[in-house]
Amino acid sequence: MNYYAAPMEGLTDRIWRQVHQKWFGAADAPTRYYAPFLSPPENRVLIPKKMAELAPEANAGTVVIPQLLARDGELAAWMIGEVRKLGYTEVNLNFGCPSGTVTAKGKGAGMLRDPARLDAFLDAVFSAVEGPVSVKTRIGVQKPEEFAALLDIYNHYPICELTIHPRVMKQLYRGQADRAAFAAALPECRMPVCYNGDVTTPEALHALEAEFPQLSGIMVGRGLIADPALFRRARDGAPASREELRGYCDDLYHGYTEAFGAASCAVSRMKAHWFYLIHRFEGADPLEKPLRKAREGWEYETVVNQIFTRQLN
Ligand SMILES: Cc1cc2nc3c(=O)[nH]c(=O)nc-3n(C[C@H](O)[C@H](O)[C@H](O)COP(=O)(O)O)c2cc1C
Repeated sequence: MNYYAAPMEGLTDRIWRQVHQKWFGAADAPTRYYAPFLSPPENRVLIPKKMAELAPEANAGTVVIPQLLARDGELAAWMIGEVRKLGYTEVNLNFGCPSGTVTAKGKGAGMLRDPARLDAFLDAVFSAVEGPVSVKTRIGVQKPEEFAALLDIYNHYPICELTIHPRVMKQLYRGQADRAAFAAALPECRMPVCYNGDVTTPEALHALEAEFPQLSGIMVGRGLIADPALFRRARDGAPASREELRGYCDDLYHGYTEAFGAASCAVSRMKAHWFYLIHRFEGADPLEKPLRKAREGWEYETVVNQIFTRQLN
């Protein structure tokens, strides 16, 4: 089974991808890293700071799939061309982001509100673009029953892989991923399908593989930030050791400090990782608050040193 790292804005940036690959990547089964979304600029002038995330030299040695968040199919097709000039082949389209600021503009999961517009968008993309284009989608806006009509549209296009996150837009990340709705939709999909949502353990990965052997992949987001060795464990490898986690966290912190030019900016990014990772350490919950309050590099480093005195779960 292919395992994919989900795109996560604020977490799975170029620095994380390099550091994750260094510490937990497998040479024989490289992780495919989906990059967090980029929005094509309406004036078609690329923003260097955003494009730096996809710079080939910053992504060397990793398999990266750029993701686009757009509502105008022609603009998305143009951006796919720009991204391909950097050497990428597959590009992913985001119809899943539930954030209010995104969906208010009719982007992300907001695209699912109007199936005719979704159809027109995909038509504009696929008439202009060749080569692999994949899609990441939620199963509707209000209720899972909406998915049949959406899937009818997806089935008309040569989507190279459809990643389904079986939640509806209005759920945000609440409740459970709807496995029953996913199971019902799977036989109707004419393209390879990847499952995404709420997978946090090797056992859960294996159970999904057993239940849906026809899947082309399983994508994991929060579970991989909480346990960066998750995919290795699923392939019968060792859990993350304390030394590995220390090296991983230090590399991330130093990578962010260098990239942002200030430890305090790196601290804020590291807190997003620790929000998930701290639960790997036994009895570390009381350290969550001081970690949240840390602003300066030295404050952060003091709390992290304390976390690393705890046993691993
Ligand atoms: C902080 C955060 C940022 C995210 N950013 C993106 C994104 O840029 N593109 C995207 O398609 N999904 C994004 N997602 C959704 C994840 O890719 C994934 O679909 C979701 O977390 C469910 O999978 P999981 O249960 O394995 O985490 C984000 C989720 C979170 C929590």
